[in-house]
Amino acid sequence: MAYALVTGASRGIGRAIALLLAQRGYDLLLVARSEDQLRALAQEIAQHHQRQAHVLALDLAAPGAAETVAEWGVQQASGQLAVLVNNAGYGLWGRFESLRLAEQQNMLQLNMALPVALTHLLLPALHQVPRAYVLNVASTAAYQAVPSLALYAASKAFLLSFSRGLRYELKHSNVSVTCLCPGATTTSFADRAGMGAELQATANKVSMSAEAVADVAVAGMLAGEAEVVPGVLNKVSAGLTSFVPKGIVEKIAAGIYEKYL
Ligand SMILES: NC(=O)c1ccc[n+]([C@@H]2O[C@H](COP(=O)([O-])OP(=O)(O)OC[C@H]3O[C@@H](n4cnc5c(N)ncnc54)[C@H](OP(=O)(O)O)[C@@H]3O)[C@@H](O)[C@H]2O)c1
Repeated sequence: MAYALVTGASRGIGRAIALLLAQRGYDLLLVARSEDQLRALAQEIAQHHQRQAHVLALDLAAPGAAETVAEWGVQQASGQLAVLVNNAGYGLWGRFESLRLAEQQNMLQLNMALPVALTHLLLPALHQVPRAYVLNVASTAAYQAVPSLALYAASKAFLLSFSRGLRYELKHSNVSVTCLCPGATTTSFADRAGMGAELQATANKVSMSAEAVADVAVAGMLAGEAEVVPGVLNKVSAGLTSFVPKGIVEKIAAGIYEKYL
């Protein structure tokens, strides 16, 4: 049976994507730091979806993590790796100058360097099956600069551009590359980013559930779409950034995100 490897599978969007892939018949390779949550998910997948799930608990921002995951994934899947979901990531809310440089560099490692390395290391395995998919989880922040999430937005713009370029390079191959760009989603993302209660309350008014995002993401990935923006509101706001002047877009974003700093 075909395997899907999901990073950041312990909760949130990654967990929801893993469950949907199990429903679609994939066996799962689950990676994140929280071993208990990964094991609970693996059990749920085995019980409710009769699929195998293996777990690997490690810090994906640590040196050598991509190599460890790739080696483990290739061994577990034994020639049947068909899906790579680069989902693990986080944001940091605050002024670039005020946030600790080391923490920002850790975020860049997880959001950019890790998906690049994992994709490079796992493409040879993905080329061994008849049809394979890479799903990179970016954000609607990929479409514009966001004051107070400046580096996070830049990391997601990187991931979107990388995804599109790689997709084109692989267009005559068996591997389809999709970039998922969710807007606000109800997960532990906002807490992890250090967003205050007022900003979280504002975001909650338009937030989608992780399950709804995963649903659109998996369908889009399997349909071979280049970019998937879940939700009408997110589609409209992402679309507007292509013709509204950048200065105005940034002022609107600052009005939402910066005013609660
Ligand atoms: N929620 C939103 O509003 C939103 C919007 C747009 C894009 N996104 C993107 O969606 C993706 C998933 O985020 P989420 O919203 O589902 O957030 P989440 O609930 O905080 O989940 C993040 C996942 O990444 C894993 N992770 C974080 N740091 C890790 C590390 N150093 N090593 C290994 N695993 C790590 C976490 O697992 P452990 O803590 O167990 O390691 C968890 O499984 C991220 O790339 C995020 O940027 C989220």
